[in-house]
Amino acid sequence: MPPNSSCVDRVPDLYRFARPLLWALPPERAHELTLRALAAGFAGAAAAPDPPILAQSLWGLHFPNPLGLAAGFDKDGRVPDAVLRLGFGFTEVGTVTPLPQPGNPRPRVFRLAADGALINRLGFNSGGLDAAVARLGARRRNGIVGVNLGKNRDSTDAVADYALGVRRAAPLADYLVINISSPNTPGLRDLQARAALDALVTAVMAARRQSGRLVPLLVKIAPDLGPEECADIAAIAKDREVDGIVIGNTTTARPPELKSPEAQEAGGLSGRPLFARSTAVLADLYRLTGGTIPLVGVGGVASAEDAYAKIRAGASLVQLYTGLVFAGPALIGRIKAGLAALLRRDGFASVGEAVGADHRSSASRACATTCPAAQP
Ligand SMILES: Cc1cc2nc3c(=O)[nH]c(=O)nc-3n(C[C@H](O)[C@H](O)[C@H](O)COP(=O)(O)O)c2cc1C
Repeated sequence: MPPNSSCVDRVPDLYRFARPLLWALPPERAHELTLRALAAGFAGAAAAPDPPILAQSLWGLHFPNPLGLAAGFDKDGRVPDAVLRLGFGFTEVGTVTPLPQPGNPRPRVFRLAADGALINRLGFNSGGLDAAVARLGARRRNGIVGVNLGKNRDSTDAVADYALGVRRAAPLADYLVINISSPNTPGLRDLQARAALDALVTAVMAARRQSGRLVPLLVKIAPDLGPEECADIAAIAKDREVDGIVIGNTTTARPPELKSPEAQEAGGLSGRPLFARSTAVLADLYRLTGGTIPLVGVGGVASAEDAYAKIRAGASLVQLYTGLVFAGPALIGRIKAGLAALLRRDGFASVGEAVGADHRSSASRACATTCPAAQP
C-alpha cells in the first residue's frame, strides 16, 4: 500500500459480500444484474472530492481524476451517471454499432479466476445508435462521457458506419473513440493497416466537421501490433491530427503463464496478463508520437501502482474494466488515493507532470517491446 493512502475516501466495500453471489452466476447474468443495480442507485457513491493533484485539463475538458471506466461495461449508455458517481473521472459508453445487433452466441464471456483475467467474444452486442443517442440525449450532462463507436458485423461499408456514428454521437459525447481493435468482429483489426486507417480517419474527421461540433476524436488500437503497425498508426495520428489514442483493447495472445482452464476459449483476453504488453505498446506509442498526442492507457490495471506505471509510460488518462470485476468499486478509491500518494512521494505537483516521466528519467530505458524509437 503506498504511503498516505488512507486519507482519501473509500466507497464502502460491499462488493466483498456481493462478489460470491455474482460469481455464482454466469458472467453475463452477473453483468446484467450489476447494470440494474447501478441503474437503481444501489451501488453507492464516492464520499469526498478528488485530491487536486489528480485533476487535469485535456481537450478543454476538466478531468477531476485520470481514472476512467473502459468501453464494454456500459455498451448502451444505460448507467453513465451512476458510473461517474462511483468516483471515476470519466466513463466510456459503447461500443455502439449503427444498427442493433445481438453479438455472438452465448456463452461468450469467461472468468479466468486464477489469472485475474477475462476472455470475451461478445462481438459488439449493441442496442444500436438510435437507442444510445436517445439515452445520452435525455441525461443532464454532468461529468465526462465518451462514446466508443463500431461497425455492424454485416456492414459492407465500415467507413460509412463509423462516419454515421460520429455524426450522430458528436453532439452528445465529450469525446469519441473509433474502435478498430475488437478481436471479435471479423476484419475489424484490418482497419489499423496504414492505407485503411488513413482513409478511415480522413472520413471520420470530415463527418465530425459535418456534425458541427469539434468533439475530440480518438482511435482505440490493439495491444497486438508489430513495430511497423505502431509506427504507421503514430504517423497517421500525427499527420491527421487525431486527438488521442487508446491503448489498448483485449489481446488475442495467450501468455504461457495462464493457469485457468478457460484460457483456451476464443476471444479477447483482458486483465492482469495484459498489463505488461499493453503498457509496453503504450510506451512505444508515446515515444513514436513524441508525447504530442494524449494517450489513454488501458489493460490490466488493478492497483494504484499499475495506474501510475501507465501514466509514467505515457498515459494522460487510465481506464480499467476487468479489475473492477475482480475487486469491485472500492478499487476506484484505492487507486485514486494510492496514485495521489505516489505522485506526492515522487515530487510531482500534478498528475500531468508525471505523464511520460519514465521517458525523461532514463534515457537508457530501451524500447520496451516492439516499436522503433521515435526521432524527435
Ligand atoms: C466483457 C468485455 C467487453 C468489452 N467490450 C468492449 C467494447 O465493446 N469496446 C471496446 O472498445 N472495448 C471493449 N472491451 C475492452 C476494454 O475496454 C479494455 O480495453 C480491455 O478489457 C483491457 O482493459 P482491462 O484489462 O482493464 O479490462 C471489453 C472488455 C471486456 C472484458
